[in-house]
Amino acid sequence: MSTTSNTSAAPATPSRTFEEVPSFNIDKFISASRPLDLSGIRLEDAAKYPLSPSEVRVMRYMQDTEFYTVHYMKALMETHALADNEARAFMVCWGYEECFHGRALARIQEVCGHEPSRRSIDEFARPRKSTEVLQDFGGRLLSFLSKDFLATHMTWGAINELTAIHAYSRLAELSANPIVDQVMRRIVKDERRHFAFYYQQGKRRLQHSVLAQRMASLSLKALWEPVGGSMAPTEDRDFVGAYLFGDESGRARLAEVDSTIAKLPGMEWFNLVSKHTNEGTRRCLAAGTPMHRPERAAGTGD
Ligand SMILES: [Fe+2]
Ligand SMILES: [Fe+2]
Repeated sequence: MSTTSNTSAAPATPSRTFEEVPSFNIDKFISASRPLDLSGIRLEDAAKYPLSPSEVRVMRYMQDTEFYTVHYMKALMETHALADNEARAFMVCWGYEECFHGRALARIQEVCGHEPSRRSIDEFARPRKSTEVLQDFGGRLLSFLSKDFLATHMTWGAINELTAIHAYSRLAELSANPIVDQVMRRIVKDERRHFAFYYQQGKRRLQHSVLAQRMASLSLKALWEPVGGSMAPTEDRDFVGAYLFGDESGRARLAEVDSTIAKLPGMEWFNLVSKHTNEGTRRCLAAGTPMHRPERAAGTGD
């Protein structure tokens, strides 16, 4: 594997800068909310093009994170977000849409002859760990003590949705399977809408309160990890980061996520997405984990 040795950048998909982040309108969002738009795409055609073992591993991880959205939704519902008309309406549609992302990822694996992941199902069935119970309690307590804590949730959500935009864009770029390419690009359209919500909520809540900025900074520095990290083994999380972002083009995307989040009030210091993901890639390389990218990516990553 040589995911970090390549210096030739993939054909870059133009990505939005901070100034281009779309404004958010909840009525428009609700009107546009629907199952993942697969019009004109036959998922069964994915079977004509094999998936590499590495690609399957990444898709399983992303499927899990999509289905695990319910967990994050539960945490948000236990905050003042429940009393916010816009946030409450958003969350219902958000969970609905993410579910269809997970189903599409699972279906592509199935038609290509791979067993979709069951991790998210198993995760919901197991008893909660004491550390998780404590974390949940801490989150509810902070939320009860100060409405400003909601800014932390919103900023956290913005980071994860923006990372998802880049992760799916990269998976599309790297895949030799045209159905994967098309479906991932459709998912990206939804993730952009989700990001717009969290970003404007985070910005609005941070700019009105220094306390909100401090709480968000402290919480993120102490607790943030790449999406899915609380559910999946570290090796899986590292592998996904290395596959998607372990080359020059990938690292540029991580830096873009960081710089967009750093433009939020009080978040000038933000560098966690690059920091955590690049550390994970180094661990993955040091462990000599086999990694194979499809032919299409031969000149862009390996
Ligand atoms: Fe999603
Ligand atoms: Fe999303």
